[in-house]
Amino acid sequence: MFTTESFKNSFASSNLAEMKSFKIQATGFEAFEVPEGTKLALALEQNGVDVSHRCGGQAKCTTCRVSIKGEEPAMGETERQSLDEDGVLGQFRLSCQIRVDRDMELEVLMRASEKGWDPGAELEP
Ligand code: FES
Repeated sequence: MFTTESFKNSFASSNLAEMKSFKIQATGFEAFEVPEGTKLALALEQNGVDVSHRCGGQAKCTTCRVSIKGEEPAMGETERQSLDEDGVLGQFRLSCQIRVDRDMELEVLMRASEKGWDPGAELEP
C-alpha cells in the first residue's frame, strides 16, 4: 500500500539521490560539503568560516570577498557591476553572489575576526 508517509519517503530519497554536493576548502579551515546551488557566503558561515558580509549579501560592501584557486563559477551582472564600479574587477570574487556549482579551494580575504567587526547583516539563502 502506498501511504502518504511512503510517498514522502520515496520523494525525499529520490531528491537526495539527484542532489549534487561539492567540497569547499577554505584556507585555514576544515573542508566541508554543501549542496549544489548554496550561496557561497552562507555555506562558509554555516560551516564555521567567519566571512564578512556587512551589507547582508547585496553586492554593495565587497567584504565577502574571496580568492578562488582554479576555475571560478560564472559571474553574474550584479557582481560584475559592483566590482567594476569599485575598480576591483578581476581581483577577487563576492561570495554573496556565487552559487556553488563545483568543488572550490579558496581564501576568505576579509574575515570578521581579523577585522574586529561583526560579520554583518543576515544573509538570505
Ligand atoms: S558584497 Fe556585501 S555581503 Fe557580499
